Amino acid sequence: MSALFSQAWAHALGEALNASAAYRDAAATWEGALLLEWLPDPQSPPEHSVYLDLWHGACREARVGTASDTEHSAFVLRGDAVTWDALLDGRTSPITALLRGKLKLSKGSLAALLPHVAAANALVEAARQVQHSAAGIGIAPVSAPVSAPVSAPMSVPEAVAPNIVAAPAAGESVRRFQSISPTALRYDTPPMRLWDKAKRLGIWNPADIDFSQDRKDWAALADDERDFLLRLTAMFEAGEESVTADILPLMMAISDEGRLEEELYLTSFLWEEAKHVEVFRRFFDDVAGVREDLTRYHTPSYRRIFYDELPHAMGRLRTDRSPIAQARASVTYNMIVEGVLAETGYYVYHQVLQTRGIMPGMQKVSALLKGDESRHLAYGVFLLSRLVAEHGDPLWQAILARMNELVDPAVQIVHEAFACYDPTRVPFGQSAGPYVEYAMGQFEKRMARIERARAQTLADVYGGEEYETN
Ligand code: FE2
Ligand code: MN
Repeated sequence: MSALFSQAWAHALGEALNASAAYRDAAATWEGALLLEWLPDPQSPPEHSVYLDLWHGACREARVGTASDTEHSAFVLRGDAVTWDALLDGRTSPITALLRGKLKLSKGSLAALLPHVAAANALVEAARQVQHSAAGIGIAPVSAPVSAPVSAPMSVPEAVAPNIVAAPAAGESVRRFQSISPTALRYDTPPMRLWDKAKRLGIWNPADIDFSQDRKDWAALADDERDFLLRLTAMFEAGEESVTADILPLMMAISDEGRLEEELYLTSFLWEEAKHVEVFRRFFDDVAGVREDLTRYHTPSYRRIFYDELPHAMGRLRTDRSPIAQARASVTYNMIVEGVLAETGYYVYHQVLQTRGIMPGMQKVSALLKGDESRHLAYGVFLLSRLVAEHGDPLWQAILARMNELVDPAVQIVHEAFACYDPTRVPFGQSAGPYVEYAMGQFEKRMARIERARAQTLADVYGGEEYETN
């Protein structure tokens, strides 16, 4: 037993790392020292630090940090008491804490850490095994703030209004139609405001995009540049097909719960995803002129998310419509696939094409898609906020748990795509770093928006201002 971040704790951590086969394997290619810094709260300077000299799966030195260690460390990771507590209790993972901005890299780049996520997890696992107590250096264990219990007076009383209310006689049901009831349509709810925007902004036609200049620009690209754009588009197109195919169980669940306004909006959601499938196929047909199988561009982490996690989380709603199953589906679909992956992908497209001043058709497409996706994401943020306001902390914990499962593979998709190129000669002069940082910022904004619902009533969520966070 030794106090967190004390000399004894540092030594015990070094020993635990050297005894851990999991760490040795995961960190086999790791080179360089790590400085971990502890602050009492986010605004204060670091009060304690631990220096770990790590080399190829071994810990060569572990001790309390000194003033000159920043200079000698490849990475400096800074977190407050609440964050270290959550990491060491297993309530969050290193990459999630980084993406949420709870753990900060004050030295070193996130892109350089990405290939070592498994090593970071094994390191934290070893630290968890080192018992820590508050004795000795005056660090009181801090637990995460507990939110006030959410008791939601339903001032939107018909938020749940099943279409089929009773079966008075055998085989006979009474249907209830909201649109001819006094409830009518609640125009002033977030889904109806999104539906209104979708009707105005989501009506562009993929067949109308002019790709004539794009075709000329494509012909002038170098081979590796074509490979880069084909890879990006092959990931996108299969992603668009996935979200088109996989959303139906969610729409059925929402429809069966009698949430008419949400169902109206979701019709535009599905139609927009369908247009995204069409427009990327037009790129292959009318710009790149490729008909071959492009599955080779799908890396292991891509397959995990799109071949496994997404269809299973959504498909589960066919048989399990519990609030937690809905939240897991929405985190997977909206927060991870749309929020982290699609949005980052549009940003890559935009940066590459705009910087080079090529392919005006595809530039237009990426701007249109970004607009559509901002509404999809706003719906996801609304849905998760509604579920949190309705079901309280267990629901919020389920959101965090699902996020912890998926953030690692999602970020690995970005890393794996860039790792296919010589790092000194990535086509279009691109690198993963700025994109991962962009994804982090967007992700954190949305999570913070959803977290607000922990202290809100259902009426607050329905009365909330716009859910778009762009
Ligand atoms: Fe889409
Ligand atoms: Mn979408």
